[in-house]
Formats: sequence, C-alpha cells, structure tokens
Amino acid sequence: MKQIIILILFISIFTGCEVNKKKPGSEKKTDEIKTTVINNKTDKKVDSVLALMTLKEKIGQMNQYTGFWEVTGPAPDKGEKAKRYEQLKEGLIGSMLNVTGVDEVRKVQKIVVEESRLGIPLIIGYDVIHGYKTLSPIPLAESASWDLEAIKKSAKVAALEASATGINWTFAPMIDISRDARWGRVMEGAGEDPYLGSKIAYARIKGFQGEDLSAENTVAACAKHFAAYGFAEAGREYNTADIGTSTLYNIVLPPFRAAVRADVKTFMNSFNELNGIPATGNKFLQREILKGAWNFKGFVISDWSSIGEMITHGYAKDGKQAAELAVNAGSDMDMESVVYIRFLETLVKEGKVDEKLIDDAVRRILKVKFELGLFDDPYKYCDLEREKQIIGSKENNDAVLDMAKRSIVLLKNENKLLPLKKQGLNIALIGPLANDKNSPLGSWRAAADENSAISVLEGLQKYTGNKIVHKKGVRLVDGKATFVNELHINTTDRTGFTEAIKAAKNKDVVIMVLGEYAFQTGEGRSRTSIDLPGLQQELLEEIYKVNKNIVLVLMNGRPLAITWADEHIPAIVESWHLGTQSGNAIAQVLYGDYNPAGKLPMTFPRSLGQIPIYYNHKNTGRPTLQSPEMVFWSHYSDESNDPLYEFGYGLSYTTFKYDHLKLSKLKFSKDEEIEVSVRLTNTGEIKGEEVVQMYIRDLVGSVTRPVRELKGFEKVSLKAGETKTVTFKINAETLQFYTGNSKWEVEPGDFDIWIGGNSDADLKASFTVVE
Ligand code: BGC
Repeated sequence: MKQIIILILFISIFTGCEVNKKKPGSEKKTDEIKTTVINNKTDKKVDSVLALMTLKEKIGQMNQYTGFWEVTGPAPDKGEKAKRYEQLKEGLIGSMLNVTGVDEVRKVQKIVVEESRLGIPLIIGYDVIHGYKTLSPIPLAESASWDLEAIKKSAKVAALEASATGINWTFAPMIDISRDARWGRVMEGAGEDPYLGSKIAYARIKGFQGEDLSAENTVAACAKHFAAYGFAEAGREYNTADIGTSTLYNIVLPPFRAAVRADVKTFMNSFNELNGIPATGNKFLQREILKGAWNFKGFVISDWSSIGEMITHGYAKDGKQAAELAVNAGSDMDMESVVYIRFLETLVKEGKVDEKLIDDAVRRILKVKFELGLFDDPYKYCDLEREKQIIGSKENNDAVLDMAKRSIVLLKNENKLLPLKKQGLNIALIGPLANDKNSPLGSWRAAADENSAISVLEGLQKYTGNKIVHKKGVRLVDGKATFVNELHINTTDRTGFTEAIKAAKNKDVVIMVLGEYAFQTGEGRSRTSIDLPGLQQELLEEIYKVNKNIVLVLMNGRPLAITWADEHIPAIVESWHLGTQSGNAIAQVLYGDYNPAGKLPMTFPRSLGQIPIYYNHKNTGRPTLQSPEMVFWSHYSDESNDPLYEFGYGLSYTTFKYDHLKLSKLKFSKDEEIEVSVRLTNTGEIKGEEVVQMYIRDLVGSVTRPVRELKGFEKVSLKAGETKTVTFKINAETLQFYTGNSKWEVEPGDFDIWIGGNSDADLKASFTVVE
C-alpha cells in the first residue's frame, strides 16, 4: 500500500485537489459542466501520474495478460508464468483478464500495489456477457424483449455480481450487427438491425457503467468488436469482411457510435480484416473514425492475440512490425500478443513509434482507472462479505427470471393450444434438452456453475395439477473435447426413440424441447447447417406421427430453419438459451402465467441457402415477378424469397389491432419535426404487451435505400379491450443516412411509413420532405 499512498499524495499536491473529495459548489452547475470539471480534474491527475513514469512503465500499462489459472485462449507455460509474476512486480502489466474471485484479484492487485515502483493498480477484465454467476438470457434472446429498461437492468445485475468478485471491467456489450445465422457469435449480439442494435448497445452500457463508475457496484463496459466482425464471409468464424461504404456507415457503425454516446469507457477491436486491413491495425477505423470523428476518450484494447495475428493475416512481417502497426493505428492495449511489452520501447527509440502516441494510450488507460476509483482504493472491488451476499442472491435470480420471460418469442399458436390448462392434463415431455440444466446457460457463461440452470422439466414440475412423463428420445453425447466440457446432440443413436414414441401416444399434449446444445453456438461455433442438430428433426417427425398436439420449445443461440415444424407443429415457442432461470420462465409462459411479448431481433430463414437474409435489404432492379412465365427477376427457383419468420415478428396470447395511422404534417422541411401516431387496441381477452414498430422507406437516394428501416419502437401494455394511441417523432435524426456525399444528412424527397407489430406491417402512409 506504501507506493499507492505516496502516489496519491503526489497527485493531490500536483493537481491542487484531494483525490477523494468532490469540490464544493458544483451542485449549481449543469451536468455537462460538472462532467467537464470532473474530466479536467481527472486529466490533471492522469498527467501527474504520467509524469512519474518511465517509458517502460508506460508500455507496461498497455500490456494485458490473462490470469495464470484460467484461460479463454492458449495459456502461458510455466516458465512464462514465472516471468509474468516478475513483470507484475515491475509494474509491466497494466491489466489482467480471467482473474476471478475476490481472493485471486486481491492477490494480483497486492503484488502490483505493494511491490511495483509506482503501485498503479490493475484494471481487471472479464467476459461478463450475460451475467456472472446468475445468468440472464444470452444477449440475442434479451434483444428479443425489445425492452430497454429490462436490458439495462440485466446489465446492472451482471455488473453487480461481477464487481462483487473483484472485476471492474467487462468485455461487453458485443454490438456486432450480423445477418448470418451460421456465425456462432450471433448469440452474443442484438441481431441484424442497426437501430435496435444501437438502442440496446446504449442500454447495456448504461446498465454496466451506471450513473457513477467509481461506485463499487458498477464496471467499465467495452464495445466490441470494432468493426464488421459480424460480416465474416459465409458466417465462418474469424473470416474476412469485405463490405462497402454504405453498409459500413449505415449498418455496422451505428451501434458503435451509440456506444460512444453512452460514454462507454473502452472499445475492443476485432480479429477480422476489413476491406484488406486487419481491424487491429486499422487506422481509418480507430484513429480517423473512433478517436477522430467521434472523439472517443476511452481506450481501445486488441482482441486476444489479434495484434500478433496480423502476421498470419499477411499484414505484418513479424511481431515487432505488428506492434508498430497496431499502436500507430490506435490500439492502446495489447491482449495477449505480448508484442507491446517486447517491442514498443525499441520502436520508440528507433523513431518508428512516436512517444506521444504511447502517452496518449497510457493517459486513456489511467483515466479509466481513475474513473473506476482504483487509485482511491485498489481493493475497492475486493470485499469478501459483499461477494458472499451478492452472488446468486434472490434479487438477482428474480431479475434474471423477469428478463428470461421477456425474451421468449411465441412463433406459432394454432387453435390456441397455448397456454396449457393447469389441471388434468397428461403431458409427455420429450427431447434431449428437456431436462438439460446446462444448455440454457448458453455460451459465454462467465462463472456460472455447470448444470446450474433450472431445466424445463423442473420448471414444469412446479405446476402440480398435470401428470408429466419425461423421455429424452435423443441423447446428448460427448462432442469434441476443447477447453470447455462440450456435449453434442446425437446423430446416430435412435435407441431412445421407441420409449419416447410410446410416451407420446395418447397424451393430451406433447412438449418437445429441441435445439442447440449450449456450445453449438458462441465463439468458434459457426455451422453450415441451421437445422435442428442431430436426430432431433427425425424424432420430431416420428412423434408427430403418433400425436399431433405438439408444443415445440426451441432452445438455441441463433435463428434455425424450422420450416417443417412451422408447417406441421401447432405451437412453437422460441426460448433461446435463457440463463439460470430458464425452466421457470418457460413454464410460466407455457401455463399462461406470463403472456409472451418477444419479437425476433433476427430474421429466421426458410432455408440455409437464403442467408444472408434480412428485412432491411435493397429492392434490386427486378424485385418482383412480371408475369407467371417470367424467370428473369431476383429470386430462387427452388425457394421463396420470404423468410420463415420476419424480423420483429412474435405473437401473444392476445391479439392487437392497429388503425388510425396519422401524420401531423404530410409535407415538411428537413429541419422540422413531425409526429406520427397510431391507435393500438388489445382485441383479445387478456392483458398483453405489444412492441409497436415504425418502419420508413426513403424512396429515392443518392445511394439506394433499404426497402424499409426500423426507425422507432415502443413496448406498450394493454388490458383486454383497451386502446392506446402511440406517437413517434420524425426529424432529421430519424431520416438521415450516410449519403453519396460521404456525410450524414437528410435527402429531401418522398418517404413511405408503416407502423405495426413486425417488419411486414402493412398499415401505411406517405410523406414528403422538402429543402
Ligand atoms: C473474444 C473476445 C473476448 C476475448 C477475451 C476473444 O477470443 O473474441 O470477445 O473478450 O477473447 O476472452
């Protein structure tokens, strides 16, 4: 502690202020002025520390290592481990990831604080993607709630648990837009739409970082992966992204822009190359856009070994050049490439890297450490009592249960098969995932214990009025062993079919829980098939032969092509990987104690060949059939162009009617703001929630515009028979796009507008924007 006390004393003298205390009188100032004052003060403190540092120590701050006891990538060997301990003592490590638990964090922090010359605390990062121990649904599922308050709260709970275990920085949210269900990481994002994605990015960041980053229960967020990782060719993990200007600015970048507006403290760049230049060494992305045009003040971390991988990309000839390219391009911290610590000092001495860039990177890193309050108390996140109290608390479980229910999407419900009666039914519960306590945890499960989710069987058993027989039908088997315990869904063994078929016969209803095992999605889990994996489709068809009264509960991390099921199965519920409280949430929906209101954040294709399929596509020159014998139009000869379920789609146990679409003006100037309203009525018999969605089409543009784009939404709750008017504003921000002039602007002209419950909404009006 000695060093840090000396350091804080020095900072206080140098900046003329007490490190810990707020200046009196600031209450009168506006929030903006307050922020500027705080920033200026922090900048002074940062400069005072920087002034004490040697070049080597500065570079140390830019160096991040994984914990020595747990890894998400290739682990250092024993010799390396010893070396790294020495580096901790020498202040040559600025951050660590994958160090978890108060005890472990305290241990590494203590070495740095007590033994290194300046005692600059470490920032401790971890992939807290959808919760720490008490898991929320995977982010794609949460996005299906379209409920920004709930999403923010879920991030808050994740921050609460993570910060109670010593972590002060999460590598989330992942805000990569993707149109490709083959890509395993779609589970980690908010789906295909830049508008929804931006709102969710903002909400998640606010949830993680809270009002006060220095509070003990908030963590710094990290917007990742910058940029275009979600456009990996053919959905293959880490693959090349090659996209045009319009797609980059109008589709990929908006959530990142929103992240900067949310004051996100860090960015992570990405593994992929973008248009020939690896993102990690991409000056245009990091210096021109992020730190230039957007004036981002936080720091950028590389992805795991992505600096070193620029050699394999064929962009750098060796580690030294990779370090040079990355730092010059604006990557401030090196995650596990170990090239900054090896080469930056020499590169500065050789004049290949300007020391000013090092100073800039270190300033950014130190600033976040100050903002987190780590200089005030490096052990602030290390309170064993807090850890015990907070992890897995009842409140946290209630919160993730609430989020899980909001994330469920009802895809089909013929003849009101759902909700189920609570008494007197004989139910067969079938499927490899029906009593699986692991899959619902999803990929990226942080510190959650294996098999700690409530299974569907367990959830259903809480309703005691019905009889349930459970059979797997298809077993889970060992998959390829990697560093996680992976199972797969059986592809060959049909021995479970007979008893499952027998159980299904003569039952009032069959609930089938099918989908993807947790680790069939996530990083490194791209797939060339998006059908139900293994023998599940066959099992479904066999059961259907003996009992058609099937409720299919899907558990998956990506859109699946379930066209056969849609044609045959009367009720389908999309439950994704819902986290710790999965089974309870599903049971409450199946029994009608919760009326589902989720809407798809990503298009579900009819078949794999339609990918990439997304609602905000372009019209093309030949969008429709001219005459029955005409073949020369944009279509497939063996499949419709339509998706199976469109973006924004989702049913409820009640029904809604939209009418009275009205605009306050039909012609207005591009600087004006108008209002558009619609009347929504709950025409069913029970209370329900509906996500009212507004889509706009700009008919003619200097670059072609999508056939429609989401530009507003509101989640509304209505009692049976109740009517509400929902109003949206339309202004320059709604209508602007990155035009052929290479700027964000509104182009006057004609627009169409639709409001409804999905991206196929047909209640339509038009308006004109003039100069
Ligand atoms: C992932 C990142 C993650 C990092 C650290 C990488 O493989 O791409 O998203 O934050 O590992 O675990």
